[in-house]
Amino acid sequence: MNDIDLKNLRNQAEQEIKKAKNLNELNKVFKEYLGKKGQVSLIFKKLKNAAPKQRISVRKELNSLKSFLQLEFKKKQEQLEISNSVEQKTWFDVTAPGHKEQMGHLHPLTIVKREIMIIFQEMGFEVAQGPEVENDWYNFDALNMPKHHPARDMWDTFWLKPRKSDLLLRTHTSPVQIRYMEKHKPPLKIIAPGKVFRHEATDASHAFQLYQLEGLMIDRDISVSNFKAIIYEFLKRFFKKNVSIRLRPSYFPFTEPSFEIDMGCTACEGKGCSVCSQTGWLEMAGAGMVNPNVLKNVGLDSKEWQGFAFGFGIDRLTMMRYKIPEIRLFHSGDLRFLKQF
Ligand code: FA5
Repeated sequence: MNDIDLKNLRNQAEQEIKKAKNLNELNKVFKEYLGKKGQVSLIFKKLKNAAPKQRISVRKELNSLKSFLQLEFKKKQEQLEISNSVEQKTWFDVTAPGHKEQMGHLHPLTIVKREIMIIFQEMGFEVAQGPEVENDWYNFDALNMPKHHPARDMWDTFWLKPRKSDLLLRTHTSPVQIRYMEKHKPPLKIIAPGKVFRHEATDASHAFQLYQLEGLMIDRDISVSNFKAIIYEFLKRFFKKNVSIRLRPSYFPFTEPSFEIDMGCTACEGKGCSVCSQTGWLEMAGAGMVNPNVLKNVGLDSKEWQGFAFGFGIDRLTMMRYKIPEIRLFHSGDLRFLKQF
């Protein structure tokens, strides 16, 4: 046993582990030293014949050599495995066909909403906002529709539970007019785009959730001519050409006189289709000169201030822009439709 040089054995094994270029070579080195018939195991066997004192001290040294080598093997194995997987990953087939990434994009209603906002901002309008959950006062009373006013039936309303809470999903963006005038003094020019909700049956041009664009201009000496000029200019810029529109006398409690703005249906080029109920015209907005009672409700003197207001359907503007024959496609989630924008 005296001729066993464990230090030398350790150095030799360490060198060979370092030199191993791959897992195969490392395996061979492992067998050579720590395998059943490896050098370390053989020395363990030889210990049986050694003197008891020597046996104890050599076994101790051998055990620590064995643990040391096991650790070295493990480190080297991990190293080789990592470099192996890096080699595999960096390899690629330059002849393989490319993979096209799918890109997300804006919804057509968002594209149109943003475009409309830019057009009105260029004409000096500011953008205002209001809550989608409104109360009775802002959605109806303040707009000259006291409780039990028959005109409330013009808007089929989603009331929030409990029914007596007087909270509702706003049926139009007109309450934003009131909220804005309460906080800002005229002269003022605003638009308010946003979601509104109606408890009504759907068809090709009616949805129960839609987007509206409210407009309000209050100043001194404002007349219907100012209103017409702004609306014509907006539609010309939005459709990038002159479009046929007509103003129809109408009724809204918060405007006097009131109009409805119809546009020649682009889905059928005026021939008549399901979008325009075979009339060749589609109603795009309600509008009119602000009723003096509304001005009174926000503390304004109607002898000094006048103005006009309008409420466009953004869904319908989008339908006319892209010749979309069915409003329900917007929220259908149908990718065949959405991918066209
Ligand atoms: C209103 O909501 C009034 N607040 C508009 C207004 C504002 C009048 C300011 C005067 C002054 P109306 O319910 O008509 O009015 O709706 C306005 C527009 O929203 C319609 O012309 C139409 O373009 C769109 N619209 C209304 N209901 C629906 C619906 N169910 N689906 C799709 N678009 C709709």
